[in-house]
Amino acid sequence: MTTLATTIGGKTFDNCMMNAAGVRCQNKKDLDALVQSNAGAYVTKSATPQERAGNPSPRMHTLLKASINSMGLPNNGLDYYLDYVIRDQQKRPDSTNFLSVAGTSLEDNLAMLHQIQDSEYTGFVELNLSCPNVPGKPQVGYDFDRVHAVLEHVFDFYTKPLGVKLPPYFDLVHFDQIAAILNQYPLTFVNSINSIGNALVVDPRSEQVVIRPKGGFGGIGGAIVKPTALANVRGLALRLKPEIKIIGTGGIINGVDVFEHILCGASMVQIGTQFGYEGPALFDRLAKELTEIMAEKGYSSIEDFRGKLKTFDD
Ligand code: SIN
Repeated sequence: MTTLATTIGGKTFDNCMMNAAGVRCQNKKDLDALVQSNAGAYVTKSATPQERAGNPSPRMHTLLKASINSMGLPNNGLDYYLDYVIRDQQKRPDSTNFLSVAGTSLEDNLAMLHQIQDSEYTGFVELNLSCPNVPGKPQVGYDFDRVHAVLEHVFDFYTKPLGVKLPPYFDLVHFDQIAAILNQYPLTFVNSINSIGNALVVDPRSEQVVIRPKGGFGGIGGAIVKPTALANVRGLALRLKPEIKIIGTGGIINGVDVFEHILCGASMVQIGTQFGYEGPALFDRLAKELTEIMAEKGYSSIEDFRGKLKTFDD
């Protein structure tokens, strides 16, 4: 019997696949569809303290194997998502889900986390330190001193399960440095990666950029980011203490991609761009494809191969 179940922070999820914050999770209808789907959990669109319209359109563009976006955190505000997750928790007390927050300042993040700490919500929080799309606000995840300071302040008072969503890193020294900081805190999980920030897609016919915000600069997602995502999952898996579980995000379009993320060390995976294309039925297809791969290889649970990637030095 093959199971796709996974455990993070002592909570078990029937399926190790879920949506990534940002895609089809902004309103109640989207979230209800995720609840009804075969996803193991849902994460809400990253919230700011107040509702935000986000950046001007066009702010997302899709290509065959990629997407570029500069959404700029359009969302309905923390109260909306906190209300949703609390109601859902009351209806389904055995289910654990993820509430994403992305303040554009330390003060906003701390204020939101205080509100969550004081609420009856007991689920996971994903603190997004990696949105590349708010003009004038650099990604916190690239400023290691800042990450340290944020976590120092957060864990001064926050006692519920919390993880951070990180940008991709591109140097092994940076993996060492970020892991050394993260390992100092009681994080439940780390989610890697957010989009590859500040890329540029050009339309040669119109000789123009394809999205309006930030002069066309935006975050890249989709199939082409998979090698970067796998490197980050693997790089962190080799460095983080085992209590911090890894959520692998980036470049997943089929069951093989999920398999590879888990092989690199992910306990759960999130899907953004492809979930945008396919909607909730994606989770049925991916579950079927991963189950088939595992059955062929004789694996009955993801723990049979999680983090067991071989190198030429093994
Ligand atoms: C956005 O709303 O701009 C995307 C969110 C993110 O990349 O964290």
